Amino acid sequence: MLTFQSTIKFDKPASIVCLWQEQLKDKTFPFQEDGLTGGILNLHKAAQFSAESGEVLAVPYKGRLAVLVGMGKRKEFSMTTLRINVRKALLSSCLSKIKEIAVVPPEPKEDIVRGIIEAVLIGGYKWRKYLTTNHENNFDKKKVVIIASPKKVYADVIKICEAVNLTRNLVNDNADTVTSDFIERTIRDLARGKKNVKVEVLNRKELKTKGLNLILAVNKASKNDPKLIIVKYTGGRKGDGSTAIVGKGMTFDTGGLNLKPTGHIETMRIDMSGAAAVVGTLQAAIALGLKRNILFVVGLAENAIGSEAYKPGDVFKSYKGITVEIGNTDAEGRLVLGDALAYLVKNYKPKKIVDLATLTGACVVALGYDYSGLMSNNDTLARQIIDCATVTDDRVWRLPLYPELKDHIKGQVADIKNVGLKGAAGTISAAEFLRQFVDDTPWAHLDIAGTAYVDGSSRLYYGHGATGVGVRLLIDFLIKNS
Ligand code: BES
Ligand code: MN
Ligand code: ZN
Repeated sequence: MLTFQSTIKFDKPASIVCLWQEQLKDKTFPFQEDGLTGGILNLHKAAQFSAESGEVLAVPYKGRLAVLVGMGKRKEFSMTTLRINVRKALLSSCLSKIKEIAVVPPEPKEDIVRGIIEAVLIGGYKWRKYLTTNHENNFDKKKVVIIASPKKVYADVIKICEAVNLTRNLVNDNADTVTSDFIERTIRDLARGKKNVKVEVLNRKELKTKGLNLILAVNKASKNDPKLIIVKYTGGRKGDGSTAIVGKGMTFDTGGLNLKPTGHIETMRIDMSGAAAVVGTLQAAIALGLKRNILFVVGLAENAIGSEAYKPGDVFKSYKGITVEIGNTDAEGRLVLGDALAYLVKNYKPKKIVDLATLTGACVVALGYDYSGLMSNNDTLARQIIDCATVTDDRVWRLPLYPELKDHIKGQVADIKNVGLKGAAGTISAAEFLRQFVDDTPWAHLDIAGTAYVDGSSRLYYGHGATGVGVRLLIDFLIKNS
């Protein structure tokens, strides 16, 4: 639980005290407690604490604990290291038995308090559903009190963090729990009773009559229904047009008959991370009461195997009319998104589109785990996304799209094929495939294959499992640019 307290009292069993290096030199502290500041300066003099970034030292004070945390140099400040350091302090073993902890910001600035909230709620998130015992130290069950006056912006940050964690819960759970039906129910629960939120669901039957054959093809061997869900959120003025956000929702990606090998298949329940980010963003938009017109779109399918499965060499006619040759059944995400994007453009005419997809392993090779790939047919839109990515720390790096990429995905017996040239430009040829389905609508594509999930024990201020990538970026983008 997270609360605020306006004045520093050092009345909790432990207080995390964040300090810049400059504060040790200038003897300027965010509180007046001569006993503590004198002690800190003595430790500094004795070279036992110098407030270097990530330094943690616990000292007794007034029968309680003061946990000093180095924030590094004030002039080298970054929100990322702030979140990392506060999380590190909260996880520190000296706090393992303590149930209530105050966090004292190095200075009472709004941005810094925001960062601390994110360190507590995003940094403290842990997927516990299937743990029957837990010896590991964590602080998601503890009371954390941030020393700051409560403000509306902080309440909003909390709502956004909760949406990030909803996304993470959806991604982390079993694929056979978080099915297309489950995601539909989650969306309907969010929309229930909201007059400005309308839900359209295309199930197998509607997909068939309307001709969304690419979504149907991918889902052929699954017992679960494929779905295209479009949520119309009307928070802005009537004539304003809407911004669409679209997520890839592969509830599990076996690779299909081009089956994924051991080492690649284990985490593939996360292949709906794009859709989960869209659902999280929907929850945040409703909670924040965003005054924008937004279309929240998820394309849901399961890439399963079996005698019903779609096959390499098959050709399908897409909703848009373009025919597609299946070069590899593991390149399924672009098929689902191609139909979803074309349906959206034709029937809803959004003024711009942002899609998120765990689309290519090649993106992980190119950019690793800390940057999502950004591709766009519109420089203004790309710039807007980059700016929001920088502010929110859902980092992106732009990759090019250019006319010659068309040759990469030329079909032999159909208009296009779903794979590019072997071993070349896998991320941007996948984006070029998507581009063919959006016409001239300004569109940006985020490949989140590397950023959606932490396979090890931690990365930045995320623990193991889903990161909820995209939610903070999308909310910032919708507020500023829609
Ligand atoms: N879902 C995968 C991409 C992926 C890989 C996501 C690793 C997260 C982590 C996607 O459907 C896929 O299998 N892409 C293939 C495309 C290839 C067959 C052209 C890939 O990247 O290998
Ligand atoms: Mn795949
Ligand atoms: Zn996939």
